[in-house]
Amino acid sequence: MEYLLRTFFYRDEQQASTENNAMAETVKLTINGQQYEVDPATPPSTRLVDFLHEKHLSGTHVTCYQGGCGACTVVASFADPDTGTKNTHSINSCLAPLLGCNDWEITTVEGLGNRHDGYHVIQERLAEYSGTQCGYCSPGMVMNMYGLTQSNSSWSPSEVEQHLDGNLCRCTGYRPILDAFKSITVQDIEDSHVVRCPNTGQACRGRCAAEKVKVPLSNKKPVTTQVQANGVVWHQPASLQDLYGILAGLTEGTSYRFVCGDTAQAVYYSGSFDVYIYTRHIPELSRVAQAEDGVVFGANVSISRVMEELETVSEGRSGYDYAKELVKNWHRVASTSVRNLGSWAGNLGMKLTHREFPSDIFINLLGAGAVITTALPNGSTSTHTLEELLELDLQKERRVILEMRLPPMADNVKFRVFKVMGRTTNTHAFVNAAMTFNVDEASAHTVIGKPLIVYGGINPTFVRASATEAALEGKSLEDEGVLQAAMQALANEVKPDNLPQDPAPEYRLSVAQTLLYKMVLGIVGDAAAATVTSGATDLERPLSSGQQTYDQNTETWPLGKPIPKLEARMQCAGEAEYVNTMAAASEELFGMFVTATQANAHIASVDPSAALAMPDVVAFVGVDDIKGVNNIMAFAWPTPQPLFPKDRVSYYGQPIGLVVTKNRGAAYGAREAVKVTYDDIQPPVLTIEEALQKPPIKDDPFVQGDVQAGFAASTHIFEGAMSRDGQYHFHMESQSCLVVPTDIGMDVYASTQWASETQRAIGQVLGIADNTINVTVKRLGGAFGAKIDQCNIVTTAAAVAAQKVRKPVRVALDLDANMTIIGWREPYLCTYKVGVDDAGVLQAIQATLTCDSGYVAVDSSSSGAVMVMPSCYSCPNWEVTPQVVLTNTACNTWCRTPGTVEGIIFMENILEHVAEELSMDPLELRRKNLMPDGGTRPLNKGMIRLRSLIAGREAKWLPDSLTVPRNLISGMIDQILTSADVEHRKQLVAEFNQKNLWKKRGLSVMPMLWPYAVPMKAPFNAMVSVNARDGTVVVSHGGTELGQGINTKVAQCAAYELGIPLDMVAVRPSNTHVNANSDVTGGSQGSDVACFSVSQACKKLRSRLDAAKEDLGLTDASWPEIVLAAFNKGVDICERYVNGWDEVKPYPVFGVACTEVELDVLTGQFLVLRTDILEDAGKSISPLVDVGQVEGAYVMGQGLFTVEKPLFDSATGRKVTDGTWYYTPPAAQDIPVDFRVSLLHDAPNPVGVQSSKVTGEPALCLAFAVVMALRQAVASARRDAGVTSWFQMDTPLTVDNLQRLCLVESSRLVVNV
Ligand SMILES: Cc1cc2nc3c(=O)[nH]c(=O)nc-3n(C[C@H](O)[C@H](O)[C@H](O)COP(=O)(O)OP(=O)(O)OC[C@H]3O[C@@H](n4cnc5c(N)ncnc54)[C@H](O)[C@@H]3O)c2cc1C
Ligand code: FES
Ligand code: FES
Repeated sequence: MEYLLRTFFYRDEQQASTENNAMAETVKLTINGQQYEVDPATPPSTRLVDFLHEKHLSGTHVTCYQGGCGACTVVASFADPDTGTKNTHSINSCLAPLLGCNDWEITTVEGLGNRHDGYHVIQERLAEYSGTQCGYCSPGMVMNMYGLTQSNSSWSPSEVEQHLDGNLCRCTGYRPILDAFKSITVQDIEDSHVVRCPNTGQACRGRCAAEKVKVPLSNKKPVTTQVQANGVVWHQPASLQDLYGILAGLTEGTSYRFVCGDTAQAVYYSGSFDVYIYTRHIPELSRVAQAEDGVVFGANVSISRVMEELETVSEGRSGYDYAKELVKNWHRVASTSVRNLGSWAGNLGMKLTHREFPSDIFINLLGAGAVITTALPNGSTSTHTLEELLELDLQKERRVILEMRLPPMADNVKFRVFKVMGRTTNTHAFVNAAMTFNVDEASAHTVIGKPLIVYGGINPTFVRASATEAALEGKSLEDEGVLQAAMQALANEVKPDNLPQDPAPEYRLSVAQTLLYKMVLGIVGDAAAATVTSGATDLERPLSSGQQTYDQNTETWPLGKPIPKLEARMQCAGEAEYVNTMAAASEELFGMFVTATQANAHIASVDPSAALAMPDVVAFVGVDDIKGVNNIMAFAWPTPQPLFPKDRVSYYGQPIGLVVTKNRGAAYGAREAVKVTYDDIQPPVLTIEEALQKPPIKDDPFVQGDVQAGFAASTHIFEGAMSRDGQYHFHMESQSCLVVPTDIGMDVYASTQWASETQRAIGQVLGIADNTINVTVKRLGGAFGAKIDQCNIVTTAAAVAAQKVRKPVRVALDLDANMTIIGWREPYLCTYKVGVDDAGVLQAIQATLTCDSGYVAVDSSSSGAVMVMPSCYSCPNWEVTPQVVLTNTACNTWCRTPGTVEGIIFMENILEHVAEELSMDPLELRRKNLMPDGGTRPLNKGMIRLRSLIAGREAKWLPDSLTVPRNLISGMIDQILTSADVEHRKQLVAEFNQKNLWKKRGLSVMPMLWPYAVPMKAPFNAMVSVNARDGTVVVSHGGTELGQGINTKVAQCAAYELGIPLDMVAVRPSNTHVNANSDVTGGSQGSDVACFSVSQACKKLRSRLDAAKEDLGLTDASWPEIVLAAFNKGVDICERYVNGWDEVKPYPVFGVACTEVELDVLTGQFLVLRTDILEDAGKSISPLVDVGQVEGAYVMGQGLFTVEKPLFDSATGRKVTDGTWYYTPPAAQDIPVDFRVSLLHDAPNPVGVQSSKVTGEPALCLAFAVVMALRQAVASARRDAGVTSWFQMDTPLTVDNLQRLCLVESSRLVVNV
């Protein structure tokens, strides 16, 4: 098969056969200076990244294939056909059509640097700054930055931040990436001599773009070409005349599509066309000109280029001040790399074919009065306003957009554009708007003539608020009556549609009103009351910064030394291999799941015959092919989870079978061709509330004291409920597995967090012995719990297929499949009753924690969550009941700090409730209820029971609780109060809120006790081998490298214990024969226990070698000399170790976070202004790794509590958030503007491994501080609205949720208060 050819565009296309071709020219391109020719039979929908992978350039990764993650970023240089100027930019290689890359020069991460020739400064810097964890995003990050250095002759730190607007990283929290890139100067790039320039053949000076190398037009003039393959024609006209000729020649009924950047396909996949017309080579369409009546842009001019030009004219040409507003807003249109490729006209083309598309470009150009010129095939041209354009049927008339003219605007015209979105960058608008008002400021801001008010994101037909315009015509904007009449008119004409993927219609109408209000406030300025003026502006994010503080611990180096991850450089160079990027095995086949299109139905029939008749389709694997047990849960897991259902499907997207094909392209078609019919179709149950109509599955409650007595002793009792929705793990490498049958069984290369579970699951499903299955795990491109056991949907399916076809089979999920087939973090509901005395001291807490396990209760965490609830607090009486409900959704699963985060945040929510009801300062209330030194925490019995089942060992001897000799929280709170200047800032926040109605701030302090209790029964196997000839050391351990830095920590421990330099230690991939029976790398225990076992093995080895040294009298001998001498004397210089029961101890991890936010009340958008985290990492084994864990976990938590929301179609049960368009984890500009992380000073952990504490998960819980800070901001807004009672804040606090809580009524949108 071709190398991981991955494209959803192949859904209905097969690789064309060359025999059918009538082609004129081949496509030639250079990649890293080497020339390539493209197979003329390539389907038009093939992306550049497919070609890179075919050529084994696997450093360019793919996560989304949607332009939404940046993993595939490369740098492209191509000539402007109008000027001949060569431009160099970062682009998304998953979007660029391969056939359009003729004469392009591509630089991939391999072209920058590597371990043989040396790394590029950008790769080095990202590694040095710990900007990489799992490393899957890193090549894309590097190429993004390289693109900036190549497209600009200089760059500011702000430009670096802006440029990173389309690259996601789930691991790092972005801070180190931003710091790394901001540190790179022009000089650094000039001094980087590694890269060979594709133009000169000399060492790269990084200046090609800056010098704008002019390619002589005579040499490079494009020619009109045509490629025809299997009836599909790809035209590349080089002149308008040729284009008109092609259009005129289209026969009736021929479907055709213009292609410029081809980025629209990632948003609206529109199937295959008979004819593609690639317009990029037509000089006129790339024209940028300063005409007398305006600035003119040809249709193909990229959005980035338009912005560049507008920036220039806004500085130097009168009438173009307004262009600044466009440029500012367009920085929030898609991402830099998408804007570099995508054209403004392509964006309008999308709007014309998909009226529901909330195009910012369309709305903004309409507001700016842009005039569009189009042409018919006969060459006749006409001009249109944007509204007129919308009335045309371009396709039917075969009309082409030629250019747009942006006219100047009179000085007294006020122009503004708005975009309200769920995240700061690279996401579509919930509502957008443009408004143009001609105003007589001198006469009470009276509107002259009709204003222009247009909106997007309302419904497919609504654009212009004509009645509202009429209500404002000739009226004074200072007149409250006028404003209210306008609000009413808006309410009458703005009718948002109601779709599951969009915020509620009520919110979108409200925002339509508040945006108009913002416009009015901006116009009237000081004529408005001082308290409302803050409503006029949008939130402005300043340049971000970070600080990290930790102990140096030099006395134990390399243990405790702050070093970048060992694999960092190779990750930044794209050299690190993942299952997803491994080269294909000989005769490798590809497996793709056939999934359910009903959520709750009986399977009447499955008929793969049509698929099996298709070319390149090898087999269909279904439930009847399972030779062992149809259960992917291994060991003694209590509830089975089937690989494929036998009778009923339980969720939309559930795997029913697997098509096995010779290539990925064929699999798309085959998957669709498998015919599945259903009967007994029942409505899906999708929420906890719906599921609770049936009795839930209850578990043992956590009981302490007597809650009824506690309530009797309480003077105040409050009741409430809080829900917290699920979260997609968003590991950047999808679930993947390659199974290779061998003469003794199967070699399995799996992206799993738990190799021995995967080994057993495969053995169980296939009915074969474990010793025939060897699972190897080199590294994972992120996991966060999703690859603990749910990865076995993929691994066992690949294995069943390999068993059936007796050939290697790879299954690697596309993002949409990954997001629908595999479950997410469990949604939760907590109902509670709390009793306190007058002073706010807790007397009793009774609560029920309900988790939604999805369709099968295998990974339920509520029995663990109830134990964690006390956090760092004391309460004499508890009764907390865990329960589980089932829904028609995928099997929800562990996700970074499962159960723990719920226990901790629900407790914080209860304390918030009490504080608000008693009008107490929330921190004061918390301090009153802190657990004293020597207090006890219940142990997570649910988790221990589960581990007992897994290990097949009794757990009776384990204690019920964990004693906490010292509750460090009080001192840590004091410390953060000082270091974060909390009291002073609280005062400033209060003053700010007093002065402003429409912008609010909040500042919170959140303490946390995170109980680390899982490792007592978790065996991790370590093998340490010393090479006799040179003394170098190889370590293999039972943990898996997920990005958390386990290998780095293990190497530091090994080097320390053996007393050798770090560079003498190498860590090899984990596998199930060297590291048999090792436990899961999850629950923060992987690094901890692996470090323990490796340290113990090294200690044993060291003592043996020390003894040999003494015996042999080698007093002054070096390590290699000792090793060799000992070996020659028959000493075993290898050692293994497995931790025994209770050897690795439980302990509490303490943390405090202080967060300040600013909220735009009118839209619900907010900024996290500053976050300070103080976390107790004991004596850190690897401080940079630990700081990275803290930052990454915190930002993932911020996503959980704010922007990330799963959405379903309630009718079908289909998950609509199945890609980057609707699901938006935090991006680089969402993180705290000022992000400070400190590891607690001088805090060695007496029971910790090497005196350390774990860091992988706890800080995620601390992100609840954002919710607490937002509560204060929202509470202030509600007080202004006259409402002071307690209100619940369910999470995620998406912008619509926040704005609704702020009680923004149109009647309160006034100019004078
Ligand atoms: C990840 C992502 C995020 C995005 N975010 C946003 C956003 O926040 N806001 C926003 O407004 N947009 C957004 N977009 C849309 C983006 O702006 C467009 O995809 C891009 O501008 C399309 O330009 P293109 O050159 O790639 O068009 P293509 O994909 O090549 O073409 C798109 C359509 O336009 C037609 N077309 C192209 N040229 C012409 C012509 N000369 N005459 C007539 N029809 C023509 C084509 O036939 C096709 O139907 C996003 C896109 C992506 C992929
Ligand atoms: S893979 Fe290209 S942007 Fe995500
Ligand atoms: S390091 Fe960025 S996604 Fe893992």
